[in-house]
Order: sequence, then structure tokens, then C-alpha cells
Amino acid sequence: MEILITSLTLLTILVLVVLIATGGRPMVFFRGIGEVLSTLKTNRGPLFWTLVLVALTGGFLFYFYAPPAGNVGAEQPIPFSHRVHAGVKAIQCQFCHPYVSYSIHPGIPPVDKCLYCHRYIIAQHPWIQKEHKLFDTRTPTPWVKVNYLAEHVLFNHQRHIRKNIQCQECHGAVETMDRIKGKHFYMEFCITCHQKKKVNLDCWLACHS
Ligand code: HEC
Ligand code: HEC
Ligand code: HEC
Ligand code: HEC
Repeated sequence: MEILITSLTLLTILVLVVLIATGGRPMVFFRGIGEVLSTLKTNRGPLFWTLVLVALTGGFLFYFYAPPAGNVGAEQPIPFSHRVHAGVKAIQCQFCHPYVSYSIHPGIPPVDKCLYCHRYIIAQHPWIQKEHKLFDTRTPTPWVKVNYLAEHVLFNHQRHIRKNIQCQECHGAVETMDRIKGKHFYMEFCITCHQKKKVNLDCWLACHS
């Protein structure tokens, strides 16, 4: 969709430029093209290097300035925001993810938990109405999972949280994110910290099932 809009916009701009440059007679432009092409042919060496330079500069600028806003997580069925809840409203992580300290699956809160507050707070908001509908039909909210760990890895939050490792050390500054940008947790991630904290590295026994 964005691609379509972008290309339509670019096309419109191109047409406008041609119209303006030719004083409203675009055919002049097309007749001119033949001449321009033959000039280009004789100059193709310098032209080639100019294009290469432009491409390299563009690529560099793109990667250097790529907006962090493009760095957001998957779209969720309800635009729940950790920034609003865990950040601005300072609701504790474990209020919504209570099982994190004693289950392998910390879990995503069920709708009841949302309605605990939203029966009263912005109750008429369309998204909250959607929550009500899910609640009434006993449908679990189809949240999109954003974190991945290989199937054969045994990861348990409990041991880590008991050692006072903050959620943010592994999940990043969740309380600043509207949409959580999840990640794939690879073994290197586990090993690096275990080495630093001098924990059991005998992972073939401890972490692999
Ligand atoms: C008001 C309830 C609420 C609070 C408070 C909350 N969360 Fe969440 N959390 C959710 C919901 C709902 C989802 C699923 C939707 C999503 O991913 O945004 C979620 C998803 C997540 C996920 C992604 C799970 C996955 O793999 O898909 C992580 C990680 C997480 N929360 C960590 C935290 C941390 C860390 C805090 C505290 C800084 C926190 N949460 C506070 C409700 C909450
Ligand atoms: C502890 C209370 C509490 C819980 C639990 C809670 N919320 Fe909220 N939520 C709030 C408050 C406070 C606001 C801010 C309301 C406002 O803007 O006036 C809010 C705002 C929102 C908004 C509007 C966000 C925006 O960008 O303005 C949505 C959508 C929302 N919550 C969804 C959820 C969902 C889904 C859950 C369950 C996973 C949930 N909330 C759980 C307190 C809560
Ligand atoms: C040592 C690193 C680490 C710490 C600390 C940590 N997590 Fe996680 N978390 C992970 C990994 C790895 C996964 C992916 C596990 C999986 O998919 O089985 C995960 C997954 C999750 C999920 C998604 C679970 C699901 O059922 O989809 C939630 C929610 C979550 N963490 C919340 C938290 C909260 C809240 C805290 C702090 C109280 C926290 N985590 C602290 C590493 C960590
Ligand atoms: C931020 C640091 C950190 C990260 C990241 C981390 N761990 Fe740990 N892990 C620890 C600490 C500290 C302990 C020791 C806990 C204790 O002594 O009870 C531990 C303990 C463990 C244990 C228990 C070890 C034993 O001796 O039985 C397992 C299993 C484990 N981690 C698996 C993982 C896996 C799998 C990952 C990656 C998905 C991971 N950890 C990522 C810090 C980390």
C-alpha cells in the first residue's frame, strides 16, 4: 500500500516537473529525448560513475538516517501501548505478566485484566468496546507473538528474575515502546551474559532439551 502511494506521488511530481519545464507542452520533452539520449551515449563513462556515486551516497544516507520510527513491532489486533501503560501510567510489568516469576510461560494477560481497569477508564473507546466483544464471546485476543526462541531451548524466567535481572536487560526499554519490537533470541545472547555473570555455561545440559 505504502509503495503504491509513494510511486503515485513520485509519478505525479514527475509529470508536474515535465509540464512546468516545457511550459505546458510536454511533447517538446519527448522530442527532446532523442537528442538527450545521443548526448548521453557519448558521455556514458562519466555518467556511469556519477550514477554509482549517487547510488552509494543515497544508500549511505538511507542507512545512516533510517528513522528509528521504522523500527517498530508487529501490528497488534488492539493497539495496546506499553509506553502508555508501563511508561506513562507506570503499571508494574508483573501486574499484567504475573506468571513470569513462576512459570515457563509468562503469558499475555487475558481480556479480564484489561477490563479490570477499562470498565471505568475510557470505557466508550472503540478499542475497549472491541475488548468487551472479545470478553463476551470468550475469544482470546489474537495477540501477535513477537519473541522467538528455538523450540529445543529451555528458558525459564524464574531463575533470572530471582537474581534481580531486570526485564529490560533482555527485552529492552519496553516502557518506551508503543509496539514491542520483538526479537529472535539466539544462543550467543544467552552465552554472552552467562559468561559475564559467571553462570553455568554447561548449557548443553541445562538449556537444551
Ligand atoms: C496493562 C498490561 C501490561 C503491562 C503493565 C505490561 N504488559 Fe507486556 N504485554 C501486554 C500485552 C497485552 C501484550 C501483548 C501485546 C503486545 O505484544 O503488545 C504484552 C506483550 C509483552 C511482551 C511480548 C511478548 C511476545 O513475545 O509477544 C513482552 C516482552 C512484554 N509484554 C514485557 C513487558 C514488560 C517488560 C513490562 C514492564 C516494563 C510489561 N510488559 C508491562 C500487557 C502488559
Ligand atoms: C491498571 C489499569 C489498566 C489496565 C490493567 C489496562 N489499562 Fe489500558 N489504559 C489505562 C489507562 C490509565 C489509560 C490511559 C487512558 C487515557 O488516555 O485517559 C489506558 C489506555 C488504553 C488505550 C488507549 C491508548 C492510547 O494510545 O490512548 C487502549 C487501547 C488500552 N488502554 C488497551 C488496554 C488493553 C488491551 C489492556 C489489557 C491488556 C489494558 N489496556 C489494560 C489503564 C489500564
Ligand atoms: C534473561 C533474559 C530475560 C529476562 C530478564 C526477562 N525475559 Fe521475558 N523473555 C525472554 C526470552 C528468551 C523470551 C522468549 C521465550 C519463549 O518464547 O519461550 C521471553 C518471553 C517473554 C514474554 C512472552 C511470553 C509468551 O508466553 O509469549 C513475556 C510476556 C515476557 N518475556 C515478559 C517478561 C517480563 C515482564 C520480565 C521482567 C519481569 C522479563 N520477561 C524478563 C528473556 C527474558
Ligand atoms: C542478562 C543476563 C542473562 C541472560 C541474557 C541469560 N541468562 Fe540465564 N542466567 C543468568 C543468571 C545470572 C543465572 C543464575 C541464576 C541462579 O544462580 O539461580 C542464569 C541461570 C540460567 C539457567 C540455570 C542454570 C543452572 O545452573 O541450572 C538456565 C538454564 C539459563 N540461565 C538459561 C538461559 C537461556 C536459555 C538464555 C537465553 C535465552 C539465558 N539464560 C539468558 C543470566 C542470564
